[in-house]
Amino acid sequence: MSLFRLDASIRTEGSASRAIADIVEAKWQAGNADAPVTRRHVGTEPLPADAWGAAVAGSYLPADQRTPEQAGALALAATLTDELVDAEALLLAVPLYNFGVSQHVKTWVDLVITDPRMGPRAEPALAGKPAVLVTVHGGNYSAGTPREDWDHATGWLRRILADVWQLDLTVVTREFTLVGVNPALDDFTEMAAELKEAAEVEAAEHGRRLTSVRQAA
Ligand SMILES: Cc1cc2nc3c(=O)[nH]c(=O)nc-3n(C[C@H](O)[C@H](O)[C@H](O)COP(=O)(O)O)c2cc1C
Repeated sequence: MSLFRLDASIRTEGSASRAIADIVEAKWQAGNADAPVTRRHVGTEPLPADAWGAAVAGSYLPADQRTPEQAGALALAATLTDELVDAEALLLAVPLYNFGVSQHVKTWVDLVITDPRMGPRAEPALAGKPAVLVTVHGGNYSAGTPREDWDHATGWLRRILADVWQLDLTVVTREFTLVGVNPALDDFTEMAAELKEAAEVEAAEHGRRLTSVRQAA
């Protein structure tokens, strides 16, 4: 049995989302160092942006009438879906970019949904599977802040992961990752440190939960 982990940061050094996801993953692996982890780095190894259109067009055709491009796109969608179906638990680390998800994440979701197992008429293939979504924000979009409704990523991800895919989802968010990077946010240094620590504690709790679900299965 395995953990599937998706990372969507466009960087590998200094990534706050990877750091929080590392805590979740470490707790998942605690007590079972041999548990395999399947990884997909959509931010640094992007899926082809034109695969989704080809997969949609190919999905309307019998297999023997598909172009090689369409067949390849649907094979890619099947591989991405296999990674989710085969895993016992899911971990997704998704930064906020330009007030939404990156095209890398959108392409991944769109491609998965072209697979017949994940389409609107299929029995939900991932229903009840435990999943942790890690989100990180350079700013702070929590309730009561001036831009509390500017985060258009988390709500959409919840719709897809919890409602459409029916995962058993928990979310850990770290706000203010740009404090210490952007001098305009220097007034929030103390608050950012507290938020970072709170997110790390929450990540450990969620990781332990994934571990206990795995052991109970
Ligand atoms: C191109 C770009 C756009 C970004 N847009 C936003 C944004 O709209 N809102 C925000 O709070 N942070 C934004 N950020 C900041 C990132 O969310 C923040 O740096 C986060 O920590 C990135 O994830 P990582 O640390 O895992 O790489 C943006 C960063 C980049 C590079």
